[in-house]
Amino acid sequence: MSREVRITPSILNADRANLASEISRISAESDFIHLDVMDDIFVPNFTFDFDVAAQIIRDCPIAVDSHLMVAQVDQIAIDYAQAGSASVSFHVEAVSDIRATAKGIRAAGARASIALKPGTDINNYIEYLDAVDMVLIMTVEPGFGGQSFIESMLAKIAETKRLIGSRDIWLQVDGGISLETIERACQAGADTFVAGSAVFKSDDPAQMVQALRSAASAVI
Ligand code: DX5
Ligand code: ZN
Repeated sequence: MSREVRITPSILNADRANLASEISRISAESDFIHLDVMDDIFVPNFTFDFDVAAQIIRDCPIAVDSHLMVAQVDQIAIDYAQAGSASVSFHVEAVSDIRATAKGIRAAGARASIALKPGTDINNYIEYLDAVDMVLIMTVEPGFGGQSFIESMLAKIAETKRLIGSRDIWLQVDGGISLETIERACQAGADTFVAGSAVFKSDDPAQMVQALRSAASAVI
């Protein structure tokens, strides 16, 4: 197998008041910083408004993977790409035109990604796989960090991997990824791993990123 492992730490539960120093603890070991954007409408939680997020993206020393958990996301997703995100994930449950939104993201120079809540069936979105660079399978209900990985998502990860087939599309998992769950998610077909609390609640976040990468690389 020649799948590559990517580790994308989420700063959702990092110390917001000291974000630059929190990011600097893990940036050398990480492939992207995962930026969770919540609007208190699509999910019952709020993180940043656009101007604050755009500043984080500008200041970040490594590429930013923006995960938009916001309603009516079509234009917002393109705005996040234009703000300098390397990758933009928008929820299929929150978009009206998947193809146009993905096209707009790509036109702004970012990777386009569709995100699916746990209850959303990937089989309804097969026709869009040719329009995206990544599929994000949520392995918790979006809204909060620190939740437990939903084991029944392993079958959905495997099904998504099967549908992706030989296409060059990354398969990201987000929610409850830790040293305890990353191997199973990887075995099922994921290659790109968001980890929030596992990284930032650990005594040595940089070492945890390395440990997660080793654990996934061992089974890929
Ligand atoms: C949840 C977010 C996740 C979250 C991951 O809605 O999309 O990115 O921060 O946090 P952990 O790894 O703690 O589940
Ligand atoms: Zn996320």
